[in-house]
Amino acid sequence: MSAAESAGESGRDERAEFLRDALAGLSGPGKSLPGKYLWDETCSDLFDRICAHPDYYPTKREMALLPQVASEVAAIVGPRVSVVEFGSGASRKIRTLLDALEAPAAFLGLDISGAYLEAALRRLAPDYPDVAMTPVVADYSKPVRLPPAAAEPPILGFFPGTSIGNFTPEQAGGFLARARETLGPSHFLVGADPTRDPGRLRRAYGEADGLMAALHLNLLDRMNRELGSDFDRDAFRHEARLADDPFRVEAHLVAIRPAAYQLGGRTIRFAAGETIRTDTSHKYAPETFRALATAQGWEPIRLWIDDDSGFSLHLFRAG
Ligand SMILES: C[S@@+](CC[C@H](N)C(=O)[O-])C[C@H]1O[C@@H](n2cnc3c(N)ncnc32)[C@H](O)[C@@H]1O
Repeated sequence: MSAAESAGESGRDERAEFLRDALAGLSGPGKSLPGKYLWDETCSDLFDRICAHPDYYPTKREMALLPQVASEVAAIVGPRVSVVEFGSGASRKIRTLLDALEAPAAFLGLDISGAYLEAALRRLAPDYPDVAMTPVVADYSKPVRLPPAAAEPPILGFFPGTSIGNFTPEQAGGFLARARETLGPSHFLVGADPTRDPGRLRRAYGEADGLMAALHLNLLDRMNRELGSDFDRDAFRHEARLADDPFRVEAHLVAIRPAAYQLGGRTIRFAAGETIRTDTSHKYAPETFRALATAQGWEPIRLWIDDDSGFSLHLFRAG
């Protein structure tokens, strides 16, 4: 099979899976979709703008912590490291790490938003001519194998931001176990956000001048474009809701009025006020997150906590 045929086939498989998950998530009451389907190029662009918005505290707090963390991590992991970033998106934070590491050998950016990832690595590569750059288009909610020879030991995994919080605690355990398989003997630097201040969370996840709403409403456009549905984005509004046990922020699209839409040959009905949960952000206290990772065989090495928000970066090791 040619490369073009095999790319076409994998695109068809992905669309079939998207349709299956969309029908399963939207057919009954308690409608929801896995957050990974938010991430097309438009969403990645919007997220990049959200990171620069004053309301979105996680990026700013993590960036404030990262220079110190990066130099301490560099001393721990030593020279010629291959760095593997999960969900690398615009690949901005990696610069701080690459700048601090001693002669890093390789960078593998792994992301589900393929075209955006490839463009980000094309922008990054000229600034790091001695670092071998490999984009890996993959879904990290499933097992991931790195391209052979692209990442030689020593290996440093990097999962910054609040992305680990998009998994339920059980799913996060599964991700951490899979990451051990993917990375092999390695260090792993992971961000986790413990914020519980309702005002701060509502501003970050609900406002940001409408950028968050645009990011979530884009999912309806994406389904219309890729799955042939007929959702009307003007008939929904975005809302961030706080929930407990475990503490989390949920993103919902709320139907403004009763409506019915077509998806994959089925009718999807909404009562006024009914919602689609489009993403979840679990907030992990450092000790809770450390226990979760330890249970998956990651040995805690070092923890850094931001004074202002409590945003934490954990360094783990697996032998
Ligand atoms: C919230 S953004 C974080 C981007 C960047 N790492 C940061 O910290 O600013 C999440 C990134 O993970 C990617 N992503 C989300 N779900 C994914 C999945 N299941 N597999 C691979 N990448 C995923 C998105 O495309 C996006 O680039």
